[in-house]
Amino acid sequence: MKRRDFVNWVGLGWIASSLPVAIAACSPQKTTSQDWQSVGNVAELDKNGQLLAENSPVGAVLVVGTSKAANLVAVNPTCTHKGCTVAWKPQAQKFVCPCHGAEYGIDGKVQKDPATKPLTNYAVKIEGSSVLVKQV
Ligand code: FES
Repeated sequence: MKRRDFVNWVGLGWIASSLPVAIAACSPQKTTSQDWQSVGNVAELDKNGQLLAENSPVGAVLVVGTSKAANLVAVNPTCTHKGCTVAWKPQAQKFVCPCHGAEYGIDGKVQKDPATKPLTNYAVKIEGSSVLVKQV
């Protein structure tokens, strides 16, 4: 084998063996909708008693409560009737749809027609100054 052939052969082998490592290193870190996702900050949640993130990585999220509340609640605020965004009514402790009047309890269960399916719930927690949700 000539020296030039040997160098080419070794060089090609090195490139071929390094390629998978280089591809893996350059690939973006995968985050799935199954992971905890930030949907806003604690200051905004505490100021309003609710936090709406319409385009979070897990979809639309409405968090209800404050950082000092014992149990925060997070739901997908998309009404299961025809898809309007429900609003949280703190005095009544329910989600109300402005389109056709469906009502949901704080647990997302239907309390009043015309909706028949519950709102989707998320797990929610506070970490530092961020409000995080995760699909359950
Ligand atoms: S879209 Fe909500 S009640 Fe019809």
